[in-house]
Amino acid sequence: MIVAPSILAADFAHLADAALAVEGAADWLHVDVMDNHFVPNLTIGLPVVRSLRRTTTLPFDCHLMITDPDRWAPGYAEAGAYNVTFHAEAADDPVGLAKTLRAAGSRAGLAIDRDTPVEPYLELLPHVDTLLIMTIKAGFGGQEFLPAMLDKVRTARRHAAGGHLELRIEVDGGIAADTIEQAAEAGADAFVAGTAVFGAEDPAEAVRHLRRLAEAAGGAAA
Ligand code: DX5
Ligand code: ZN
Repeated sequence: MIVAPSILAADFAHLADAALAVEGAADWLHVDVMDNHFVPNLTIGLPVVRSLRRTTTLPFDCHLMITDPDRWAPGYAEAGAYNVTFHAEAADDPVGLAKTLRAAGSRAGLAIDRDTPVEPYLELLPHVDTLLIMTIKAGFGGQEFLPAMLDKVRTARRHAAGGHLELRIEVDGGIAADTIEQAAEAGADAFVAGTAVFGAEDPAEAVRHLRRLAEAAGGAAA
């Protein structure tokens, strides 16, 4: 089980402090890169990721909500990201890009936004390490979790199990204490949480609480 707090919900003037607050509790730090193009919102890019990389030992899970990831994503792998996830809707050559990312030293993730079905991408899963299923519409934190998206998680998990694929299935959007269990039961094993972690008084404790819930529910599902 992976719990990945999203710094989108943290204070952008104090990102290093946010990373520190969850170090030791979180598995990955989820970094939402938005370009005001693929999504209407604008966040941070490569220079911030490079600087932040020096402040924490937490592996970076970079979620690129950008157009033309074929051109821009490898830079994040070169900057030391552990996992680089690009959107299926934006990539011209997802398999080629996944190969490039792995060659550059990171894992490769494929993300599916709210309005995108998962079926057309199932055949690509052997080429990626992570499948990120949006449980909201990509672009903004603090939105309400969409339980209907869990059908995609179930479909992907069944497909991965049938093909004996080692695949992480990550859910992103509206993950909190009241939604994480159903996501774990559906077959997700990585959980992004922004508001539920950095909106909490004690972010590290919030991460630990989410992990306990996910482990109990995921164990019951298995
Ligand atoms: C939104 C981002 C999410 C966001 C989730 O497009 O991809 O990672 O931070 O925020 P919460 O957990 O508040 O829904
Ligand atoms: Zn994200």
